[in-house]
Amino acid sequence: MSTYELILRRRTIRKFKQEPLDNQLLERCVNAARVGPSGANLQPLEYIIVAEPLQVEQVFPHTAWAGYLPDWEPQPGERPVAYIFILTNTEIGNAPTDVGIAAENITLTALEAGVGSGMIGSLDRKALAALLEVPEYYKISLAVALGYPAEEPVMEEMKDDSIKYYLDEDGRLHVPKRPLDQILHWNRY
Ligand SMILES: Cc1cc2nc3c(=O)[nH]c(=O)nc-3n(C[C@H](O)[C@H](O)[C@H](O)COP(=O)(O)O)c2cc1C
Repeated sequence: MSTYELILRRRTIRKFKQEPLDNQLLERCVNAARVGPSGANLQPLEYIIVAEPLQVEQVFPHTAWAGYLPDWEPQPGERPVAYIFILTNTEIGNAPTDVGIAAENITLTALEAGVGSGMIGSLDRKALAALLEVPEYYKISLAVALGYPAEEPVMEEMKDDSIKYYLDEDGRLHVPKRPLDQILHWNRY
């Protein structure tokens, strides 16, 4: 699959099969993040892979899911089987753009191997810093939850001006995107 096709196919996955992931794939994801572009090449990011089942279970209560779906979160039996935490070493710098690039590199590398993922910014950072024994001068910037997908969300063009993703009557997630002709400007606004 071309990179472009992979990018179009990627959707945030929030329901996962309970099959474990290959550690080598998880490392490959971090390696893809490691070599991404970095402002001034400062490279302030580090990563924690959480794949040990008990630790994975202990992470979940400190994550928040699908804000537009009231009272919804992945149930036992459909939760992530691994996480990659992206940490920022604040003694080196603060680089939110680097974090986004790293997260997408992780996501696309996983997807190429058939593994689904979801970026989670809504985190109880204090609880996670304690659980993961993160030194004080590191910020937990973002988590990427991972596992083989147990759902197939669909992307669609935004209708009725609503960007809110929703579940249809079959429980399938629909993700509206703003149309290209609304967001693309050539040469001047
Ligand atoms: C920086 C960032 C933070 C996010 N945080 C969360 C989150 O805390 N919980 C969640 O369920 N999804 C989270 N998402 C996923 C978005 O909800 C998702 O990307 C958006 O709905 C579009 O869907 P798509 O990824 O399938 O295109 C986050 C995405 C990004 C880029």
